[in-house]
Amino acid sequence: MNVDVTAKNQADWYQDAVFYELYIRAYRDSNGDGNGDFRGAIKKLDHIQSLGVNCIWVMPMYPSPLKDDGYDVADYLGIHPDYGTLADFKAFLDAAHARGLKVVTDMVMNHTSDQHPWFQAARQDKHSPYRDYYVWSDTGSEYADARIIFLDTEPSNWTYDEVAGQYFWHRFYSCQPDLNYDNPQVHEEMFNALRFWLDMGIDGFRIDAIPYLYEREGTNCENLPETHQFLAKMRRMVDEEYPGTLLIAEANQWPHDLLPYFGTEEEPEFQVCFHFPIMPRLYQAVKAGDKTPIVDILNDTPEKPAGTQWMTFLRNHDELTLEMVTPEVRQWMWEQYAPEPRMRLNLGIRRRLAALLDHDKQKWFLLHALFLSLPGTPIIYYGDEIGMGDNIWLPDRHGCRTPMQWNNNLNAGFSSYENTYQPVLAEYPQVNVAAQEDEPDSYLNLTRFLIRARQGQAALRRGEMAWVETGDTAVLAYRRFIHDEGVLCLFNLSSQPQRFALHHERRDLLSPEARLSGTIELKPFAAHWLVLA
Ligand code: GLC
Repeated sequence: MNVDVTAKNQADWYQDAVFYELYIRAYRDSNGDGNGDFRGAIKKLDHIQSLGVNCIWVMPMYPSPLKDDGYDVADYLGIHPDYGTLADFKAFLDAAHARGLKVVTDMVMNHTSDQHPWFQAARQDKHSPYRDYYVWSDTGSEYADARIIFLDTEPSNWTYDEVAGQYFWHRFYSCQPDLNYDNPQVHEEMFNALRFWLDMGIDGFRIDAIPYLYEREGTNCENLPETHQFLAKMRRMVDEEYPGTLLIAEANQWPHDLLPYFGTEEEPEFQVCFHFPIMPRLYQAVKAGDKTPIVDILNDTPEKPAGTQWMTFLRNHDELTLEMVTPEVRQWMWEQYAPEPRMRLNLGIRRRLAALLDHDKQKWFLLHALFLSLPGTPIIYYGDEIGMGDNIWLPDRHGCRTPMQWNNNLNAGFSSYENTYQPVLAEYPQVNVAAQEDEPDSYLNLTRFLIRARQGQAALRRGEMAWVETGDTAVLAYRRFIHDEGVLCLFNLSSQPQRFALHHERRDLLSPEARLSGTIELKPFAAHWLVLA
């Protein structure tokens, strides 16, 4: 049974989709100012479409001082001038839709930039109606149980503002004051921002940093009941006014704390939640040659409500977060994957996928075959489809956000201007889209092949999952199945050959010529998606 994954009117299209994370500044510069923009991205939609993905997630494109790369929003109703105009955004959206690609954007709800006019008005006048849009204190001593997230840079979640004469609350950089969700006016402002973009025709939002919307004394200020009440109210609004809108939760939490973000049948919240904890365990398992971390986290993941979905990823624009592992595993992961201190950031690793794997294509293939066959809607981060590297000498997370490498012309074909927003990686003459187009085993063509193979199997997109016993911690096997279709997913996580006994003759979707039966040898780091022959 082949479901048409581009079906536009199918309400739960996100169950079948593969997403592509687009950093607009990095993609293609159309006007020669060194920054990518929407006019440039329109020219590259063919590339995105050629991957076989169904939806683009656009990272923040709002006016912003870019102190946190746009996650510091100065105006929720505009486009950053470096990226174009509202008309350019609309043209991008229409061009994507014309190709059957959906578009969701980031919505940063927890905080604004300190340059947002609301904050500027708030700090200057205690009696301004905007004062109560933010969270203030005379002492900066409240909510002491809330952890600091940007550990490497922020000494406290409170910062004293000279102009205001008070401390303001912020969970991220001190240039990102948290909004005060105890003020219903803030709800209305946010709803109006959602309406603005939905009126333009976007398909949904990735809602940023949602665990932190409310603060309450004596708690860790995460996942509070008040936060869930607000999120259910937001879902009611979009369901009533813009039915079919997709809401995706970014909550870096353990599975049992994540589950409530789906809400209940009566009070739904998000259709899709990022599954953060699985991600580091995929890297851990491949490095250790031991499937245990993957099996354990999936066994610990509760059943989700019907119609909802997890979102899975190998990398994104942030550091590879190690918040959701034990301190011992974190230390081990740092030693294995970030031997140099510069590669570490906060509780994570600021490196790109291919670099983490030492550009080993076999491991890259294994990790993708694993990730693309697990339950959940997968996201590919721009550049990972060509095995782009990173630049650990750039600050913060910028080393993983360098210009996309299109060809071996000046600036990798990204921009005609010498001073690009960040330097293009020196590897670009070898690692670029054009060079990989005609090479059958390039990262690019393997990405296309794997996505196509997944899209062809309803069992991989929507199926149930059941473990298959292999008697060996290095050999991971599970079945994905729906109706009478099934795929046996089989992986050798180790550098040693292994054996596995098949009960039926099988065809390997990952190596279409191969017919396999009896006891088969699994090569080091081998991946197989097996269907009945
Ligand atoms: C999210 C974003 C991250 C940003 C943070 C604060 O975690 O992914 O890039 O810095 O929110 O907005």
